Amino acid sequence: MKYLYIFNYFSQFEESLAHGEFRAIFNEEYQRYYFTDIDYPYSRSVFIKERLTIWHEGQTIEELVEKLYQDNLYYEDFKILYYKNKITHVDYQESLRWCRRLSDPIDGSTDLVHPKVEFALTKIHDTFYFGLLEHNRDWHLHEDKPNSYSHSLPLRVARTAVNLGVGKESDLKIIDPCCGVGTVVLEGLSMGLNIVGSDINRYVAYQARGNLKYYGYDPERIWRQDIHDIKETYDLAIIDVPYGVFSAFDKEAQLDLIKATYKFAKKVVIISHDDYTKEIEAMGFTIINQCYYRKSNFMRYLTTVMR
Ligand SMILES: C[S@@+](CC[C@H](N)C(=O)[O-])C[C@H]1O[C@@H](n2cnc3c(N)ncnc32)[C@H](O)[C@@H]1O
Repeated sequence: MKYLYIFNYFSQFEESLAHGEFRAIFNEEYQRYYFTDIDYPYSRSVFIKERLTIWHEGQTIEELVEKLYQDNLYYEDFKILYYKNKITHVDYQESLRWCRRLSDPIDGSTDLVHPKVEFALTKIHDTFYFGLLEHNRDWHLHEDKPNSYSHSLPLRVARTAVNLGVGKESDLKIIDPCCGVGTVVLEGLSMGLNIVGSDINRYVAYQARGNLKYYGYDPERIWRQDIHDIKETYDLAIIDVPYGVFSAFDKEAQLDLIKATYKFAKKVVIISHDDYTKEIEAMGFTIINQCYYRKSNFMRYLTTVMR
């Protein structure tokens, strides 16, 4: 099966993040319209807007109509829309005619307002693509968790941090060893991943447990623990390094936490306020991906490393 993934991001402050995530998942440089045969669970990414599962492609509409007749399709309440793209402009009236023509071979009923199934046609350069259109609307399920605090990561950044670590894998054993109120853990769980969290602060860990419970996840996935005492090993750690919000966390203290991950995680996504490239390399890690997020005075470096 061939897919077309359509990406979008807030260009002012998310460009580096979106490009970094794309590299982590697809191992290529970012493309806004990306064709691949990879069946990626797209709801994991906040940057994927839609996915078109391509059923047919061709140089003319009649070629697609012919193929659809051969499919003998029947759908109740379907809709066919033209998906506008920024590569190839087509005339609006013409796109409507194409969509009407493509509905001829499909039996059943149409519903343009509340369709049960949406099909889309798009033309990129000289080729028409037709298939099933899916929207990615479910990624912000945990926007309103009961316990939050001022230095929690924005949801979009937390979710992307997970993706930077997991790429397109699904079976990694993951920990957030400085989990705060559990933003990263919640996002990982909503993606169906095997993730746990710990934090040295008793009250914060308690709040994180409350957040997990609120969304129906096992609160025991979070516990109180100093990162230096972690004995279990993990495929991936995602660490959002503290920065003197409630206590003075100087550079040495931050680096000490990053270094602590070396002994229990094969791969680490480090979220830091400063660029610690040199220091991280000096610890023996190999940097495999780097990006950053900046929105007004909120700045984070996201560095993915391997042991
Ligand atoms: C920047 S906050 C994490 C915020 C979290 N990502 C969120 O969105 O809620 C860093 C956390 O590291 C924890 N921390 C500091 N020193 C620690 C240590 N030695 N072991 C484990 N956690 C530690 C702090 O209690 C704090 O909750």
